[in-house]
Amino acid sequence: MSRYVTTPIFYVNAAPHLGHAYTVIASDVLARHWRQRGEDVFFLTGTDEHGEPVALAAEKLGVTPQALADQNAARFQTLGPRLNASEDFFIRTSDPRHVQRVQEVLERVKANGYVEKGTYEGWYCPRCADFKTESEVAEGNRCPIHKIELTREQEDNWFFKLSAFQERLEQLFADRPDFVMPPRSANEAKAFIERGLHDVSLSRSKLRWGVPVPWDTDQVVYVWWDALLNYVTALAFAEEGNDQTDTYWPATFHVIGKDILKFHAIYWPALLMAAGLEVPDHILVHGFLLMKDASGEETKMSKSLGNVLDPFEIIDKYGADALRFYLLREVSFGQDGGVSVDGFVTRYESELANDFGNLASRSVSMVHRYRDGVVKSTSVDPEIAAIIDPLAATVAEQIDAGAPSAALETIWTGVRRLNQYVEEQAPWAIAKDPERADELDTVLTTLIDGVRVVALLLYPYLPASTAALLQTLNPGSEADFSYDAAKLRGEFGFAIDKLEPMFPKAI
Ligand code: ME8
Ligand code: MG
Repeated sequence: MSRYVTTPIFYVNAAPHLGHAYTVIASDVLARHWRQRGEDVFFLTGTDEHGEPVALAAEKLGVTPQALADQNAARFQTLGPRLNASEDFFIRTSDPRHVQRVQEVLERVKANGYVEKGTYEGWYCPRCADFKTESEVAEGNRCPIHKIELTREQEDNWFFKLSAFQERLEQLFADRPDFVMPPRSANEAKAFIERGLHDVSLSRSKLRWGVPVPWDTDQVVYVWWDALLNYVTALAFAEEGNDQTDTYWPATFHVIGKDILKFHAIYWPALLMAAGLEVPDHILVHGFLLMKDASGEETKMSKSLGNVLDPFEIIDKYGADALRFYLLREVSFGQDGGVSVDGFVTRYESELANDFGNLASRSVSMVHRYRDGVVKSTSVDPEIAAIIDPLAATVAEQIDAGAPSAALETIWTGVRRLNQYVEEQAPWAIAKDPERADELDTVLTTLIDGVRVVALLLYPYLPASTAALLQTLNPGSEADFSYDAAKLRGEFGFAIDKLEPMFPKAI
């Protein structure tokens, strides 16, 4: 089975921050998990380089939009590797191969009768690059996301006939209740549709920075159409000479934050229908990471609000695994959640270092203390097998349903049960009695095997530390990451290595 997972492409008006990292991490967890299950995965991320958000930022800095795009795209390109994300391609919308394909698709949309000339009059947020409908305008004519005052726009441009898709979109949401997930987001999108769809600008006449409208080169394509199309254009040129659209389209999951729901849940399927392309399987929506602002109030973290927590600093100090774990554990995926340095340190110490790291290190060190490092092949404790073996299926179901935080909690029940097992069995007491040698072997083998299985399941979240752990537990050969191996087998009969401390206190 093939799976295609995408992140939004990020605006290059500023440097990457924790919010961007969050989406990349969650998407990477899905991608890595499916690869473990032997599926053919394509994972895309990239940068959104056109439109007002970038043009205005460049103007402020006195540089060209392309120069700003080049500078910040380079920073976003380092984000994936720093997070240990496994993207297959990084698209930049200023890439001429993308530009040309955007023009082709829009020509088709026009040929199909969904483009017409019109005049736009209404509210506009240059930060969102969004024409706000009346119901989306906050008090004082402000943007509900950026809090800035909206501008009143009037311009003649080309329109996309979104209103022609009223029934088809209603049908899409009725036929596929999980097209947008979670249900709260689906309901929000449905409510928007039910208020009645209006046509949307397809082009901007005031802006120069964008994809030229092929039939009217005085105008540029409205940045959202250009941006959304990245998800299909990328497949055509990600690999030179090998168009992979048929393999991976439609996308399995477009992972997005809730700020850009309207574009993905409404504009995007309508545009695809207008172009005669299939709509994606799912739009997977997550909440906002919130940070306390100066007044102590929790607000969405964003560069423009100036309350940014730097993911790179955390990675430098604690490593990418710790950040990946924290964000998916602290904030229930799909909901908003507060994050803080204190909260991070608490979870790092109590859950990564204590629950998991300590479980692994004391299991390994007991094997060295009592058995010279050799794990016997034995039958495993059936009570533990009954808890650990079903985890893999539950986790797979949860990941398929777009619930990486719930899946992580499932795995953690296994981690907690294994810790409890150590306490119950007290191997140090069994070891004192030579008559109980077999019993000790069963306990140690069960523990090591249990640690191996939870490490395998945790691999998408903690790719570096679990890879090291799995290598320790199987020093002679390549570590086996495959999902089939995620059950207790009791198959050892060799010596394991000593384990380096997994989550040391930061210095
Ligand atoms: O909207 N909490 O780009 P963008 C959680 N270019 N996620 C956050 C976040 C926060 N505080 N802040 C940002 C754009 N994000 C367009 C997208 S896609 C065809 C075009 C994440 O740079 C989240 O995924 O403003 C959000 O949707 C995205 O960054 C917005 O990034
Ligand atoms: Mg934004």
